[in-house]
Parts: sequence; C-alpha cells; structure tokens
Amino acid sequence: MRTRLTFLLLTGACTALLAFTSIGATQGPGGAIAMDGDDIAGVVTGPKGPEAGVWVIAETTDLPTKFSRTVVTDDQGRYLIPDLPKASYQVWVRGYGLVDSPKSTATPGARLALEAVVAPTPQAAAHYYPAGFWYSLLEIPAEREFPGTGGTGNGIQPAITSQQQYLRVVKSGGCTTCHQLGTIGTREIPKDLGHFNSSLDAWQRRIASGQAGGAMVGTINQVGLRMQQEFANWTDRIKAGAVPPAPPRPQGLERNVVITQWDWADPKHYLHDEV
Ligand code: HEC
Repeated sequence: MRTRLTFLLLTGACTALLAFTSIGATQGPGGAIAMDGDDIAGVVTGPKGPEAGVWVIAETTDLPTKFSRTVVTDDQGRYLIPDLPKASYQVWVRGYGLVDSPKSTATPGARLALEAVVAPTPQAAAHYYPAGFWYSLLEIPAEREFPGTGGTGNGIQPAITSQQQYLRVVKSGGCTTCHQLGTIGTREIPKDLGHFNSSLDAWQRRIASGQAGGAMVGTINQVGLRMQQEFANWTDRIKAGAVPPAPPRPQGLERNVVITQWDWADPKHYLHDEV
C-alpha cells in the first residue's frame, strides 16, 4: 500500500521544480521488492554489504524537459523509483561517504542491482555535502569583538554592535536573502574571474559582478572589510583542503521521500523570471 503526499516547491534561484512524494516500501513474496511495470527497483550494495540511506537517482533527457526522480534506500539497501514516465534512464547511487557510482541504463520495469562507490578521500566525499555545511566553515568573529571598532580597528563597523547582528548579515538578513552560499560556485574562486594578487582582491571583484553587484557590495559594507577578509580566508582554507563535518545519512521517514525534478528554464533566465 502506498501513502502519498505531494508538495510543489518553487526553488530560489534554480531552474528546477521539485515535487516531494512519500512512499512506503512494500515487500513481495520471497523478500523481493513488490514493483509495477513503471517502476525501477533493486538493491544497493557497497563493500560492507547493503548501503542504507543513500540516494538512487534516475534521470532522462528523453522527455520534453530534463527529468529526474530520486529515492532513498531502506535499511536493507533496497530502493524503488515509482511511476516513471516511459523513457530510457541513467540510474546511479549518490550518498554521504560515497562518490557517484557509474551510471547504468534502464527502462521502467527493470530490476537493477547497483554498487555504491566509497569516496577515496574526505574531500571527494565532501563534494556532495549540502552548501550549508560548507558555509559553516566561514569563521565568525568572537563576541568580544563587538561592537566593531571600525576601519582603523577590527574592520567591523561600530554600527554592528553584536555578534548576532553580524550573523544576520551573513545569513537571511543579508547574503542569503537572494541566494545560497557554500555551493561550489561560491566556495571556490573560478579561474575565469582573472588573476588577482590575493583572494581578498578576487572577492572584492566578484561580488561587484552582475546586476546584483551593487546590492552585494552594499550588504558586505554594512559590516566592513572584516567580512570580506573572512570570506577570503574561507575560500583559502577550502582550497587548502578543509572539509565540513559529514552530514548524517537520511533516517527513518526521510528514507520514504521521493523527489522529482524537472527543468523549466535555461541558463539565460535571470532568477526573477521565475516569478
Ligand atoms: C540582492 C540579492 C543579492 C544579495 C543580497 C547577495 N547576492 Fe550574491 N549574487 C546575486 C546574484 C543575482 C548573483 C549572480 C550575479 C548577477 O547576475 O548579479 C550573485 C552572485 C554571487 C557570487 C558569484 C557566484 C559565481 O558564480 O561566481 C558570490 C560569490 C556571491 N554572490 C556572494 C554573495 C555574498 C557574500 C553576499 C553577502 C555579502 C551576497 N552575495 C549577497 C544576488 C545577491
């Protein structure tokens, strides 16, 4: 029996629509996963046996838009990707502690055994961690540094009187009002940006970019040079190999989630076109 809850989410500055469905796994005779002709199902195993709480992703470009559906394995490593539109899918495993497995080709109705690939280094594993985990590596000045002592002092404006006020600019009262931080595009400085003598120079140049440049520079200047230096130090530490703590794999009901994504815009759309 399946229970189903569907939500539609409009993502921030992203070109995908997401639908979440909750699905209870059922077992057929002989322990095999009960499946329909429009499902893909099977077991994921790693070097130590079944891999619990990892994602299995089915993706296709056969449909009018790029489409993917993601599910999570249960405690026996089993997965079921339900109700797939007719198409040829690339299917693979992603999970914390792993790197993406090689992609297998399958069509709905297939039973497919998949092998999880253990990440060779902590950096390779961390490539898949959520942006917020990477953002957590940004250092925040200690409470005793507030109120700021300005341009000739600690680089924090005197108007920033508490650590909470600083954090508000770092988070939803400032930078993350418009977009996530900690994504690969923000935690690394792309070579294409040009040559800079320091990562502080690179940060100053790149947040001045694009239509939102004025708003970004204005936001960081509310705090002062110190915040620019902390962003520069953040990218330097990451470049030198720093990795965030490993997130836990999905547990319990989180393993029943089904995520469907499909494209509906392209790289030439600005985030406001979404509205
Ligand atoms: C008013 C909305 C807004 C705010 C606030 C904002 N950003 Fe941005 N940011 C953007 C947009 C939009 C882009 C894409 C470039 C463009 O088109 O302007 C961007 C791009 C970036 C990039 C470049 C990503 C890349 O691909 O190279 C970085 C880094 C960045 N922002 C960091 C920040 C930081 C740090 C803050 C806080 C000080 C911040 N942003 C605040 C809207 C904003």
